[in-house]
Amino acid sequence: MSKIIKAVIPTAGMGTRFLPATKALPKEMLPIVDKPVIQYVVEDAVSAGLVDILFVTGRNKNALENHFDRFGELEAHLKNRGDQELLDNVMNVANLADIHYTRQGNPRGLGHAVLCGKRHIGRESFVVLLADDIMQPGNDLLKRMIDLHDSKNATVIALMEVDPSESHLYGCAKVETTTDTDIVKIVDLVEKPKAGSAPSNYAVIGRYVLKPEIFDVLEKTEAGSGGEIQLTDALRALAVDEKIAGPVYGIVYRGPRHDTGDKLGYLKAIVDFGSQREDIGSDFKAWLKSFTK
Ligand code: G1P
Repeated sequence: MSKIIKAVIPTAGMGTRFLPATKALPKEMLPIVDKPVIQYVVEDAVSAGLVDILFVTGRNKNALENHFDRFGELEAHLKNRGDQELLDNVMNVANLADIHYTRQGNPRGLGHAVLCGKRHIGRESFVVLLADDIMQPGNDLLKRMIDLHDSKNATVIALMEVDPSESHLYGCAKVETTTDTDIVKIVDLVEKPKAGSAPSNYAVIGRYVLKPEIFDVLEKTEAGSGGEIQLTDALRALAVDEKIAGPVYGIVYRGPRHDTGDKLGYLKAIVDFGSQREDIGSDFKAWLKSFTK
């Protein structure tokens, strides 16, 4: 069993891409069918053995705390109605993990958000999950990343192969192959490379297994792409100088992944997850077929 039990999930973003829906509702609470995006991400963490989750939040994020808390009145109502299944469902959300909150009062980028977790994490390795990225439930990506961290004493980043026309939307890795086709050694990284300058078509996606040395590097990392303190820039420092914290590896994820922070990605996630539902999936797919004819 890995010693890694803590995760950090940055959730302070204002969700401007989804305004006006996100004026009063945190973007992480937008539903995919009947479950908010953030719950899929927390379930991903929990299924990889992470039991202590720190949300780095901001203003207007109270709905997140309410979602992962007990709600006595609602529970009593469901119990009176004899709706055990829904009651279990609602109660399970509050019991998923030990959830903590800290505020990122003055958001200065993803690297800064992770740095806000320094005191809570202490000198342990930990996981960062980006709340926009949802993978197929039941996937073993994070578990494999943690195993690789443990066996190589390495920082591990999730990667995905993207079309070169999309590289500018991501952090991109320069890699060396290993004997395992899904594992690469990362030797350099660049955040949001300009068109045509990406070092490869391997893009960083929202799962990271980090060592505590990342905090020391982040403290010295200056604002980069978009004027923000970038996690990618701190990871680059580790990748180019193994002496700081050992090697940096990437695991290439080839399963379904949705960027729910993007309107089209969000709609695709709803169609994908809606189609997989036992209760409404077959009716939904039949309707989709006739709708798209
Ligand atoms: C962030 C990271 C980027 C990564 C991406 C994955 O960018 O900075 O390196 O590739 O998430 O979704 P953002 O999407 O927040 O601009």
